[in-house]
Amino acid sequence: GGFIAGALTRRFKENGFTNIRAVDIKPIDQWYQVVEGVESVPDCDLQIKENCYKVCEGAVEIYNLAADMGGMGFIENNKARCMLSVLINTHMLMAAKDVGKVERYFYASSACAYNTTLQQDPNCSALKEEDAYPAMAEDGYGWEKLFSERMCRHYREDYGIETRVARFHNVYGPYGTWDGGREKAPAALCRKVIIAKDSGSNEMEIWGDGEQSRSFMYIDDCLKGIDMITHSDVLEPLNLGSSELVTINRLADIAEEAGGTKLKRDYKLDAPKGVRGRNSDNTKIMELLGWEPSIPLTEGMAKTYAWIDRQSEDRKAGKQKVSCRTKGRRKICGRIDLGSYA
Ligand code: GDD
Repeated sequence: GGFIAGALTRRFKENGFTNIRAVDIKPIDQWYQVVEGVESVPDCDLQIKENCYKVCEGAVEIYNLAADMGGMGFIENNKARCMLSVLINTHMLMAAKDVGKVERYFYASSACAYNTTLQQDPNCSALKEEDAYPAMAEDGYGWEKLFSERMCRHYREDYGIETRVARFHNVYGPYGTWDGGREKAPAALCRKVIIAKDSGSNEMEIWGDGEQSRSFMYIDDCLKGIDMITHSDVLEPLNLGSSELVTINRLADIAEEAGGTKLKRDYKLDAPKGVRGRNSDNTKIMELLGWEPSIPLTEGMAKTYAWIDRQSEDRKAGKQKVSCRTKGRRKICGRIDLGSYA
């Protein structure tokens, strides 16, 4: 039901796979995508062990992308909540071992698992897989990711569960969160440009001084990478990110270009900033899989901007979105008010 898992579900369905079960804690009207012909299980809290056992019944492949997470605005202010996602991966692994016939178990880790002392400069070197240790992960969220990665490793070593782990670097694209507090910088900046144009304020707020750096991975690259890593024989966590490093100021330029405007910038220095610089070193993924995420940021941002612009227009017009869910063997379709579609 979330951004990445929703898109992954659609990809698998479109590629002709059947017997797909999508699970999320959110009620169906809050799912990012509901894919027809897929068994959708809403209102299902995967922190609860019994639920994991139920949904893993008969599973051959498990993709764990469930987490209480968001961009910097969310993870810096909700460390305990982020850490509670440890219950999800723990119970999912237990269920995979006990009830599934699991050939592959994918776990979505994060660049937040890396040692933060190596990320204190906007021009710092790109992170290699071995840079997660000695450990000094991003507080809260990052430590949970690091711990859960290790749990995957030990479930493989001790019980033979074929776990595969990717460390995502800031994933963005259409159908992602674009407002409400959990959005990441790419969507937030698109939204701010749209609002500034709409309101005629001609100004946008940027968290920090804008000189912090990141790389951003377009959703399509992320989905391809998940598929490749899951079905590879790469046992250790692998970076899954773009190596196109930009400052947040450059990201803001790109959002402005997508909107065909130029705005005055209001830098909010006390806003959540996270690490000062972060990039993905793709040497290993190139070496092992012969591929790396390569969709240019300008291309992905243009698509993301256009999608957020449409959402914003639809919301203003009070338009509704059709959504379907499966109840037993019946599919129920209803209209969802976009105003409450976060
Ligand atoms: N969210 C957001 N919103 N960030 C902004 C904004 C804004 O309006 N303006 C500037 N920024 C800056 C933040 O201060 C931060 O320095 C940078 O943009 C990137 O912020 P995010 O996109 O929110 O997060 P992140 O890159 O630090 O971390 C994200 O990616 C990780 C994986 O690489 C988070 O989603 C993590 O949860 C994730 O693990």
